[in-house]
Amino acid sequence: MNDAHPSPAGDCTFVIFGATGDLARRKLLPALVNLAGRRALPDRFTVLAVGRTPMSDDEYRQNIARHLGELCPPDTDPAAWAWLEPRLFYGFETLETSASYDSISRRLDALEGAPAHRAGRLFYLATPPDAMADIVQRLGAAGLLKEKPGAWRRVVFEKPFGRDLASALELNRQLAVELAETQIYRIDHYLGKETVQNIMALRFGNGLFEPVWNRRYIDHVQITVAETVGVEDRGGYYDRSGALRDMVQNHLFQLLALTVMEPPISLSAEAVRDERVKVLHAIPPFTEASVRSAVVRGQYGPGMRDGSPVPGYRSEPKVAPTSDTETYLALRLSIDNWRFAGVPFYLRTGKRMPARVSEIAIQFNRPPLQLYRQACAGEVEPNLLLVRIQPNEGISVQFQAKIPGGEVKLGTVTMAFNYGDYFARAPETGYETLLHDCMMGDQTLFHRADMVAAGWRAVEPILDVVGAQPDAMLHEYPAGSWGPAAADALLARDGRAWRRPEP
Ligand code: BG6
Repeated sequence: MNDAHPSPAGDCTFVIFGATGDLARRKLLPALVNLAGRRALPDRFTVLAVGRTPMSDDEYRQNIARHLGELCPPDTDPAAWAWLEPRLFYGFETLETSASYDSISRRLDALEGAPAHRAGRLFYLATPPDAMADIVQRLGAAGLLKEKPGAWRRVVFEKPFGRDLASALELNRQLAVELAETQIYRIDHYLGKETVQNIMALRFGNGLFEPVWNRRYIDHVQITVAETVGVEDRGGYYDRSGALRDMVQNHLFQLLALTVMEPPISLSAEAVRDERVKVLHAIPPFTEASVRSAVVRGQYGPGMRDGSPVPGYRSEPKVAPTSDTETYLALRLSIDNWRFAGVPFYLRTGKRMPARVSEIAIQFNRPPLQLYRQACAGEVEPNLLLVRIQPNEGISVQFQAKIPGGEVKLGTVTMAFNYGDYFARAPETGYETLLHDCMMGDQTLFHRADMVAAGWRAVEPILDVVGAQPDAMLHEYPAGSWGPAAADALLARDGRAWRRPEP
C-alpha cells in the first residue's frame, strides 16, 4: 500500500556526490520529496548536495524546484517540497583533494549542529564508476566513514559495479579497506520497483503457485525488458558498456533470481540474499560454443519511432561510427538445480523496441492428454502466468475456457489483477523504497559482494568471446522492431517463439 514507508528513519544527513548530474535531479531529489510527502523522513533531516559547479544553496534549490513539476507526479503534496527545501544545501567541491573532504566534514558538522556527529550519514555516490574507489578512500582518510553509537555511516554505489569480474572483485577489495559490508549499499533500481518486490509475495505469500513452480509443470520462462528509447545522451557511457553490462548482469539477473529462488528461511536481508545468490551460482558456465549458440547480440539501425524516422545507434551522439556495442541482447540459459533443471530461461533486453515493457512470462506445460484437440485450431494453448513489471503493473493468468454454444470449442481467456484497481498508486521514481531502506539499514534489496561477483562470473564467457571478436553474434535490427531475426531463430530452434508483449 502507499504507506509502505511507515517509520521515519532516525536523524539523518544525506550527502549526494554528483549532485548536478541527471540522477540527482531526476531521481534522487524527487524521491526525497515523495518520501517527505509520506512523512517517512525524520524531522532532523539534512541534504548536502555536492557538485563540481559553483553555485549557492539558493541557486541549487531553484534548479531542483524548476524540474520538480515535471518529475514528481501531479498528486505530490506541495507541502513536501516546502518541508525539504530549507533542509537542502549545496557544496561546491572537486572531490579530488583531501581539502575537499575536510571542508565537507566541517560543513556536515555545522549543518548537523549540536549534538555533533549524532546523525546517521548516507553518502550517495552518483559519480562515474571509476571515481568510486578514490572517493571512498578519501572519505575514509578524512574520518568520515567511522561509525559511532547512534551515528551510522553508509555509502550507496550506483551501477555499474565494475565492468567485469576482475574489476568488480578489485573494487570490492578496495571498498572493504574502508567499509564493512554492512555499510555498503550496491543499488539496483529494479529491486525498488513494487512489482519486482511482489514476485516474492506472489510466490511465498500464497499456497496456490509454489506447488507448480518447478520443472514438472513449467515448460519455459521468458524475461523481457524492452525500452523504446535509444541511447539518448548517454553514448559516452553506453558505448563502453552495452546491453549485457548495462541491463543483463544486474537487472535481468535479479528478475531471474526472484523467479527461481527457493523460499528463504525468513525475510531477513541475509536469508533472502542467500537464496538469490544461489540462483546465480546455479547458472552453468557458458562455453565458447554455448555462447555462440545461445546468445544473440543486436544493434539498432535506422528505423521509426512514433511514425518519425530515428537514427541508428552508430549515428547517435558520442557513439563510435564503427561501434560493435550491442543495444539488444537475448540469451538462453538453464538453472542447474533440483527445481528447474532442464527448464529453458530466455532473457532479452533491447533499446528502440516497439514498446516499453518489462515482464516475466511463465509458460506451463500443455495438458498431457489432448482431449480437446478437436476443439482448438491446433494444439491446446498452454497456460501462462504473466508478471507485468511495467507499465500497467499486474499479474495475469491465461487459461482455456469453453466458448459458449452447442459446439465444443475452446478459447484463451485471462484472469487479471492490476495494481491500479486495488491500490492507490503512490508517486514513485523507483528510488523511494531503496533510499528509505538505506536510512533504515535494511540491505535486503541491495546487492551483496558475492552477488555482484556471481553475476559477472556468469557473463564472463560472453564478455570473453566478444572481447576477442567484437562483432561476434552482432546483428542489426531496425529501430522500432522487436530485435534481430537471429533472436527469433534462437527460440524457433527449440520449437518456441518470443511473446509479443502488449504495450
Ligand atoms: C538503467 C540503464 O539501469 O536502467 C538504462 O542504465 C536503462 O540504460 C534503465 O534505460 C531502464 O530503467 P527503467 O526503470 O526505465 O526500466
